[in-house]
Amino acid sequence: MTSDDDMHQMSGMRYQALPLARQPEEVRARHAANRIAWNEGAAHYTAELDETLAFLQNGGSNLHPIERANLGDLRSWCACAIHLQCASGRDTLSLWNEGVSQVVGVDISDVHIANARRLSAALNAPATWYCCDVLDTPHDLDGSADLVYTGRGALCWLHDLTAWAAVVARLLKPGGIFHILDDHPVSWLFDQDAATLVASGIDYFAHREGVQGWPASYIGDLNRPVEQHARKYERLWPLASIVQALCGAGLILEHLGEHPDLYWNAFPSLDADLARRIPLTFSLRARRPAQP
Ligand SMILES: C[S@@+](CC[C@H](N)C(=O)[O-])C[C@H]1O[C@@H](n2cnc3c(N)ncnc32)[C@H](O)[C@@H]1O
Repeated sequence: MTSDDDMHQMSGMRYQALPLARQPEEVRARHAANRIAWNEGAAHYTAELDETLAFLQNGGSNLHPIERANLGDLRSWCACAIHLQCASGRDTLSLWNEGVSQVVGVDISDVHIANARRLSAALNAPATWYCCDVLDTPHDLDGSADLVYTGRGALCWLHDLTAWAAVVARLLKPGGIFHILDDHPVSWLFDQDAATLVASGIDYFAHREGVQGWPASYIGDLNRPVEQHARKYERLWPLASIVQALCGAGLILEHLGEHPDLYWNAFPSLDADLARRIPLTFSLRARRPAQP
């Protein structure tokens, strides 16, 4: 890839701008590296597993108000939800607590899926888990989902959105719904540590990066120097590329929202009034046509 000369350090994390992953094997190599990094990062979720279990046992739900508004009463229409990039299953099992009869989670991290299995076994929940690259989601699941649900830090880890959108489309039942709430790509343009709006210098139209380290307000330093963290690979997908990938896979766009709301503490120092002036998240609902 590129040399360590291109590396720069910010907020305790090490960044390196990268060329585009064009070939399928380059895409897979970045996803495979992300598996190793997420197995490290998942330790943070493992440490919180008892708290997550208690939260879910008490009927808790992580669903964001924006998701609730976009999806309505899940109990009334969603028998089966597939959660892509489900992490340790907190959000997946929240869907169950919201009334979905059967949930399926897919994630590339072995540690996350082991955590998710522990949670659903303890809850006796009707959940099935698959540890694989989202691009390899088993074909047995094709056409089975009333809802394909994802987001909250999902798309930036993927390096082929066309292949991803094809997976979403094949998993949905005819008439089924896809939903995502994720970081707005414009939010990448601002320095996450500044108290005011400061340009990060990132190119909205062409940004890929290799990163060592995790944000302090999320996973933190894993009790070791950043140089010892596995390198992971992220990509900024402009909003148009997300919409085009889903429409190109045959889905019909029903809703696109841009929001100043956050689902994690992405800008811990940013003045609250300034934060409300920029799009920090987007939400999108699309439907697989009922008739081919
Ligand atoms: C920020 S987390 C998702 C956050 C999640 N909503 C939660 O509960 O915190 C991103 C997830 O994407 C997963 N992931 C990254 N690349 C993936 C890939 N190619 N296929 C499947 N999962 C992937 C990671 O293992 C991680 O669990």
